[in-house]
Amino acid sequence: MKKIIFKTPHALASAFAKQLVNLTSDKEVIHVALSGGSTPKLLFEILATTHKNNDWSRIRFYWGDERCVSPCDSQSNYLMAKKLFFNPANIASEHIFRMLGENDPKQEVERYGDLLYKLLPIVNDLPCFDLVYLGMGEDGHTASIFPHEIELMNHSEVCAVATHPVSGQKRVTLTGPIINNARSIVFLITGKAKYPLIKSILKDQHDFENFPAAHIQPTHGHLTWYLDEAAYEGG
Ligand code: 6PG
Repeated sequence: MKKIIFKTPHALASAFAKQLVNLTSDKEVIHVALSGGSTPKLLFEILATTHKNNDWSRIRFYWGDERCVSPCDSQSNYLMAKKLFFNPANIASEHIFRMLGENDPKQEVERYGDLLYKLLPIVNDLPCFDLVYLGMGEDGHTASIFPHEIELMNHSEVCAVATHPVSGQKRVTLTGPIINNARSIVFLITGKAKYPLIKSILKDQHDFENFPAAHIQPTHGHLTWYLDEAAYEGG
């Protein structure tokens, strides 16, 4: 596990954007699962401006989770990526594999899981992403694996229906085994609000059993925490 600390969210997002660009010159086809939430916004803006002319044609885009809403809904993780990155960078639609938030959640879990088995290389009997990019909520959730459904970290299927603990909103999420089967897992975490969890997970290394993010442990790949100083030092 590697930790990289950055002075600002912009420096963090710029560094990860460069990592993504470096991936594109790596091999024929690269399978990347994107995060939702607000942190990706800065990353997408940097990708769509600084790296607008990068050749993105080798990357296939997926999601770690999606809200069960229409792709036109402001809460859609796909819509955020489409507006801030895919459209300005002219990413080919055939390279984008969104979770269909408008579908029945249980049917979409089955459809997306089948898609991953069909499109991704299989390692350890599971679809293997080249890169899974994750965020972490203030309750320690990641993707849409929330503390009250932490059993999804060991779920038998690669996708599951999750429920937001406050709003009750249904989500489609990748589960722990497929996330941990990735070649590279990267957390992008910024802001003072995340400091208490980061302190528990990465510094004190106790009292984190209930945080799903703390159970992200690659089985054969690499885990990197990209953190800004506010999240790592509470400053
Ligand atoms: C989502 C995300 C979720 C997110 C965390 C952190 O759909 O909301 O996938 O897991 O990464 O909630 O969100 P912020 O980046 O907004 O802190």
